[in-house]
Amino acid sequence: MSDIKYSFGLWTVGWPANDPFGAATRPDLDPADSVRKLADLGAWGFTYHDNDVFPFGASESERQAGIDAVKKAAQESGLVCEMVTTNTFSHPVFKDGAFTSNNRDVRRFGLKKVLRSVDNAAEMGASTFVMWGGREGTEYDNSKDLHAAHARYAEGIDTVAAYIKSKGYDLRIGLEPKPNEPRGDIFLPTIGHAIALIDTLDNGDIVGLNPETGHEQMAGLNYTHGLALALYCGKLFHIDLNGQHGPKYDQDLVFGHGDLLNAFFTVDLLENGFPNGGPRYEGPRHFDYKPSRTEYLDGVWESAKANMETYDMLAAKAAAYRQDPAVQAAFEHAGIFDLGQSTLAEGESFDAFLADESVDALDVDAAAERDYGLVKLHQLALKHLIG
Ligand code: GCO
Ligand code: MN
Ligand code: MN
Repeated sequence: MSDIKYSFGLWTVGWPANDPFGAATRPDLDPADSVRKLADLGAWGFTYHDNDVFPFGASESERQAGIDAVKKAAQESGLVCEMVTTNTFSHPVFKDGAFTSNNRDVRRFGLKKVLRSVDNAAEMGASTFVMWGGREGTEYDNSKDLHAAHARYAEGIDTVAAYIKSKGYDLRIGLEPKPNEPRGDIFLPTIGHAIALIDTLDNGDIVGLNPETGHEQMAGLNYTHGLALALYCGKLFHIDLNGQHGPKYDQDLVFGHGDLLNAFFTVDLLENGFPNGGPRYEGPRHFDYKPSRTEYLDGVWESAKANMETYDMLAAKAAAYRQDPAVQAAFEHAGIFDLGQSTLAEGESFDAFLADESVDALDVDAAAERDYGLVKLHQLALKHLIG
């Protein structure tokens, strides 16, 4: 295994494979055992929802016992708890949302559940607190005052961020966009939507994104482009890697088992950065996948390994791709380094720009006839990937 920091949600390997059409095909796993097993497999970290380690409605002592068991396994195995999140979607009380429920008592109940998870994240030494609002949304467009719903969502997120600051916790929030499932339409469906809402918050400086491969692809969007936008905006705080075959239900396949080419370019961006430099993602390579329902326990651990193995293989291929002189020449030919230069000169005034006759002297026919060589460049990537 490479020295890349891989991490897994305890709910991933722990999923007993119950789906809307059938019962579980696997037994529940003990979360502390999963921590030890993931450490054995070479993972670096783990993450969990409050109710992955103690049940909804647990007493104080049950709650602490669940946390302590996982904490002890983490200390003994050296696995790092890097992120904690809250389940505000499974219990029927949240059927109309937590932060955006039409019932204020439910909103207050949801908010308190989240703040208690924030305390637990700090106790575990996590650096990221993820918020995936799976039930924040509607099936029908007239189910909510959509302005008020966004206001309540923003209020909830801002309150959590303000709480983190008031406690002095070293934690940042990662919002996780998803277009649909379980709600017909989920609020903050894409990376771009979430960034726009963050911009309105008082405490938005500690609020960023936890984008998931499959969620962007469910919306027909390009995950690697989404990561690039989040990096550009300084908002890529965490990632959920998995595999998906286009716009359909959330498949949660092993990373790379869906759109392999996009996975290659995701790894290329994460490991090698932008060709002209710029912000880099420094956080863990976190997997949010599901071992398929056809698999039993061997398959759970085989699939966990497959995520790390696939990422390792893609990282090696992406390094070779970037170092290949033919690829660098194709970058140059395609104008990829040119795009790193600002369009206006430093300090160039509007007057000077508009007076610049060389702009009008552009031979538009010659420029239109330029061959950018992008197919050749892409074929070079493909050769590195599968050649
Ligand atoms: C999903 C989501 C969740 C979240 C998790 C962490 O589609 O179910 O991806 O797995 O990532 O709840 O907040
Ligand atoms: Mn998902
Ligand atoms: Mn996820």
